[in-house]
Amino acid sequence: MSEEVYKRRSENWFKAEGKHGYIYRERFRNMGFGSEVFSDKPVIGIATTWSELNPCNAHLDRVAEAVKRGVWEAGGFPLEFPTMSLGEPVMRPTTMLWRNLLAMETEELIRANPLDGVVLLAGCDKTPPGMLMGAASVNLPTLMITGGPMLNGRYKGETLGSGTAVWKYSEQIRAGKLSIEEFFAMESCSARSNGSCMTMGTASTMACVTEALGVQLPGSAAIPAVDARRFSTSQEAGRRIVQMVYDDQVLSKVLTREAFENAIKVNAAIGGSTNAVVHLLAIAGRIGVKLDLDDFDTLAREVPVLVNLMPSGKYLMEEFFDAGGLPAVMKEIEGMLHTEHITVSGKSVKENIATAESWNADVITPASKPFQKAGSGIVVLKGSLAPDGCVLKVSAATPELLVHTGEALVFEQIEDYLVASEDMNLPVTKDTVLVLKHAGPRGFPGFPEVGNMPIPRKLLEQGITDMVRISDARMSGTAYGTVLLHTSPEAAVGGPLALVKTGDMIELNVPNRSINLLVSEEEMAKRKAAWVAPAPKHTRGWSKLYYETVQQAHLGADLDFLNGSSGSGIPRHSH
Ligand code: FES
Repeated sequence: MSEEVYKRRSENWFKAEGKHGYIYRERFRNMGFGSEVFSDKPVIGIATTWSELNPCNAHLDRVAEAVKRGVWEAGGFPLEFPTMSLGEPVMRPTTMLWRNLLAMETEELIRANPLDGVVLLAGCDKTPPGMLMGAASVNLPTLMITGGPMLNGRYKGETLGSGTAVWKYSEQIRAGKLSIEEFFAMESCSARSNGSCMTMGTASTMACVTEALGVQLPGSAAIPAVDARRFSTSQEAGRRIVQMVYDDQVLSKVLTREAFENAIKVNAAIGGSTNAVVHLLAIAGRIGVKLDLDDFDTLAREVPVLVNLMPSGKYLMEEFFDAGGLPAVMKEIEGMLHTEHITVSGKSVKENIATAESWNADVITPASKPFQKAGSGIVVLKGSLAPDGCVLKVSAATPELLVHTGEALVFEQIEDYLVASEDMNLPVTKDTVLVLKHAGPRGFPGFPEVGNMPIPRKLLEQGITDMVRISDARMSGTAYGTVLLHTSPEAAVGGPLALVKTGDMIELNVPNRSINLLVSEEEMAKRKAAWVAPAPKHTRGWSKLYYETVQQAHLGADLDFLNGSSGSGIPRHSH
């Protein structure tokens, strides 16, 4: 029989004749499955980033069991398989160095195996975008489940938000306002269960963004990791993916331009992380949707911030879920969304959010009386210091610093700054603009989250808690400050950032969306002519490949040869 007559992809393996079919079926029998499971059932891959090296994802084994129940229930054949897991709290130098490697691995594993549809189990910061990028380049029916947030941290009656508490209290230790004993005591109270950071950091942002894209079931992003409803939703996801295979609802039918526009607007409404910008650009690059950095400014400009969560606000993900979660936010901005967009639920956005409402107007505020006015989310700034753009999260910044001109104090690498920041003789005032170079995709390499440089001790002791900082780095979604990030082109490729010198004047004007280096063109040309590219820090392995092929931040920092899709074609037999 010719392979072309098979209607499902997996049948090219399990219905193959001769020795090929024998080998494929024989080995799946070794797991105790009879031939009836191969014959007429869609084969569903459950790609999991479960790992004890990634505590945020350490419960995904139980999520996988729930998905399997749903797949069996709907008449499918579930097969769980591991992909690499990127544990944000522990991996050095930065998980971003491997997001694209996870994407590559996910893509290749899906394509090489007898799968008809895929459920992606992701969590923490980088596994949702990495897995989605990889799956987009294959384009099978695909559904994502994110692992959900941890329960709220609590200490002496105070709420502790992941990340946000660390940034705040470690600064207080530096300023001599908190004892180390108390700091240690907080540590044991701030991560009370399985799950991701429970602030609106990057993990919660990406969970919400995947729901807004329509690749995660409505209402599931905010369910706490240990809540029973996370498991019943996962079982439902198992049932849905089987139906998606029957309906041929491939990922490109979900990840449309309209989906990305919805996600950008939702990211603005939740006060989401700046990291969503880089990840959405990379995912769009895989699925073939035209999206650029300016879209994040123009599409989000009219969207108010509705969600009062740390780091910009007061509450955490548990309250967000109790208040109605993402459907309640989407309902509030319904008029701004593409509500006819069809999601993995099989229904439109309009249908998904038909009965949604906010149960707590202090947590999810009404659009008519928003937590923060329109334009308080992520803005894109351009100018002579960032010709291809940089980003700033207005809701995390100090309003008085949004129009500011100051003298640059420049550091070539973060390690230099961390030493200097403790120096009580550092020539810095509250008006200084701190400049950090060589922390971009290529410069570090790996694009670390060091853009929120700690305030110099000298200023901390004067009670200064924020100042303008600019770099080619990223920033943790749980962090805050008047911090300009993702400056493109980065210093390591000779962007204007590479040419800034201490004493130069820098002019920031957020309302005008501009960031300028007040140095003459002649002087900049002279500096450019004298600029020498830094030597690569890595000469072998993944880091070398990454260094040589990574794209700039404004393009999503994917590897240049990974853009686009190779589809889900059936690989040749090899035996
Ligand atoms: Fe994993 Fe924040 S460190 S979600």
